[in-house]
Amino acid sequence: MEKLVFATGNMNKLREIKEILSGINLEIVSMKEAGVDIDIVEDGDTFEANALIKARAVSKACGAMAVADDSGLVVDALGGEPGVYSARYMGEDTSYDIKNQAIIDRLEGVPDEERTARFVCAAALVFPDGREYVFKEAMEGRIGYEIAGENGFGYDPIFYLPEYGKTSAEISPEEKNAISHRGKAMREMAEFLRGNQI
Ligand code: IMP
Repeated sequence: MEKLVFATGNMNKLREIKEILSGINLEIVSMKEAGVDIDIVEDGDTFEANALIKARAVSKACGAMAVADDSGLVVDALGGEPGVYSARYMGEDTSYDIKNQAIIDRLEGVPDEERTARFVCAAALVFPDGREYVFKEAMEGRIGYEIAGENGFGYDPIFYLPEYGKTSAEISPEEKNAISHRGKAMREMAEFLRGNQI
């Protein structure tokens, strides 16, 4: 069975992608399982660029198909920040309680209709023969006025979903998977893999 290497060290993401790609005739393995131990500098200025940088590097290192994703929060009232810097915003080691409160504070006085934001995910698929595909999806919402919810991670506690009346940290993991940027991008990639002779 052909190998597909997922460029992540995050076991939750690996489990998620295995579920989404189940039934496809591919053996999904982590970088570690594929014996890939490289440092990748994500210096692209878009989600697509960073996802491609990671997937290309891994595909080249192991000569197999590779998938990588890059994601983040885009806040319109902050000119798109934190964007591709979402993980690094205010420093990688700063807690999300602090980062989330800082974003709420920066939006002080901004009315509901201007608090629009989205989580974006680009999933890149790179083949050893050089073919490259990117699947990009978003989940739309608004920045809330307070931190709320224990599920999810990162910026979920301030990401308010008007149609649920809750943040993405207050809905269940299954509900979030069904509508999330990452879930949608990965399912699109799964459909592509299912529908194409690879
Ligand atoms: P990466 O794609 O693993 O590099 O993640 C980028 C960063 O974006 C994460 O560290 C989070 O700060 C943020 N992020 C991406 N997706 C989500 C999400 O679904 N919920 C909350 N934060 C997210």
